[in-house]
Amino acid sequence: MNYHIIVLAAGEGTRMQTNLPKVLQPLAGKSLIDHVLNTASQISQKISVVVGYEKELLIDHLSLNHNTVMTVFQAQQIGTADAVKTGMPNSNQDDMVLVLYGDVPLIQASTILDGIDDQHDAFIFTMELNDPTGYGRVIKDTDDFATCIIEEKDASDQEKKINEVFTGILVMRSNTLNELLALVDNKNAAKEYYLTDVIKIGYENNVKIKPISIDPNEVVGANTKAELEQLETIYRDMKAKDLLEMGITLSDVSRVDVRGEVSAGKDCSIDINAIFEGKVTLGNNVSIGPNVLLKDVEIGDNSKIEAFSHIVSTSIGSNCNIGPYARLREGTTIKNDARVGNFVETKKTTLGQGSKASHLAYLGDADIGEETNIGAGTITCNYDGKNKNTTKVGKKSFIGTNSSLVAPVEIGDNAYVGAGSVITKNVEDDALAIARGKQVNKPGWSKSKKSVSYTHLTLPKKA
Ligand code: UD1
Ligand code: CA
Repeated sequence: MNYHIIVLAAGEGTRMQTNLPKVLQPLAGKSLIDHVLNTASQISQKISVVVGYEKELLIDHLSLNHNTVMTVFQAQQIGTADAVKTGMPNSNQDDMVLVLYGDVPLIQASTILDGIDDQHDAFIFTMELNDPTGYGRVIKDTDDFATCIIEEKDASDQEKKINEVFTGILVMRSNTLNELLALVDNKNAAKEYYLTDVIKIGYENNVKIKPISIDPNEVVGANTKAELEQLETIYRDMKAKDLLEMGITLSDVSRVDVRGEVSAGKDCSIDINAIFEGKVTLGNNVSIGPNVLLKDVEIGDNSKIEAFSHIVSTSIGSNCNIGPYARLREGTTIKNDARVGNFVETKKTTLGQGSKASHLAYLGDADIGEETNIGAGTITCNYDGKNKNTTKVGKKSFIGTNSSLVAPVEIGDNAYVGAGSVITKNVEDDALAIARGKQVNKPGWSKSKKSVSYTHLTLPKKA
């Protein structure tokens, strides 16, 4: 089956109280329309977005992030039937047209694809609500085909009691939909061209329209900030369930946020308030501590990320120990068996196998060999005010605490740097470099001093 997906996104969304078009509001780090288009693209690459209100911002966003989608312009928001009509010229005769909504972001591709069959040419997706207020009510015949949808404004008191409502999502053969849309008028309480009228007109013209009831959580819309927050919760729960299904141990399903894609091997565990963005890949037996942020990170088997670590665009090997309070920035590679401790920041840096930077360091544009120890307070001075320069440290070397390595500079294998050194020249293999002020002791100095002896200072008396 070939699908043409029409995404309605022309409405204003006044109840959001913002200047941003509604479909560009954020949900889990992406905008609402991004979620819809990601789902849509799992079904078909042929997608038309109907734009109208604030169309420039929306078109900019689409051309930047979804450059294969087509946009069509609905000049006036005179109803959902008119909006769908605007997208129809992009359909082929026998395409199945799927209508989605830019502000209904949680619908899953599998829900649509599992719902429909090839026996019918038309489907509507429905849901059961305890409180159906505001939605179009679904009326069915004795064979369970839909005969019509009655909008809230047009419903009688009896019809208002029907709990099965239209989600807005519809699938219909293109040529049939075209014929039916041509017959829709705006003779109703809202004076709008209702998409839902195609159901009634279809039934009258012998089109069998199959209702498919789905989980209401997937079609929660975002009309207000309160609904947006509710979506965030539903989304978080959905993603947390995915983690559990992968076999990951979670300390609390309500306190883990997956805003990107996570994949994991066996026996991984995630503590509270972890945030995952971009693409995160965990090996086997990886443990993520509390309050950790991981964005575009790969972590090997048996590695442990401790509390409050912030890790972006980084690759971590196996058997590593990171944090607490480590900050690994873009372009960091931590090789197997290495350790990065608290208050260590890295950027564009490789830390070799079995090496350690256990406390308080800045390692930028650095290449550090294996089994090397970076002492507390080590700084790679990588920036000269104009350019970034690199620091190289060989294997099995030792950088004493509080040393500055002024780049560009190279320290060889098995080399030592004395504590407190400012290293400006290369250090060869096996050498010890000390570059600090020499200590001078002056015996008896304080006794010979004529100045005030601080130990005898008395505080002024209270008045
Ligand atoms: C629609 C359905 C209703 C269903 C409900 C589910 C119709 C007539 N009614 O009602 O049966 O229960 O969705 O949420 O379809 N839009 C445009 N152009 C327009 C009008 C709307 O792009 O001219 C877009 C809006 O931006 C919005 C979506 O279509 O995202 C739905 O429109 P809205 O007016 O909110 O329809 P509902 O009253 O919610
Ligand atoms: Ca709506």
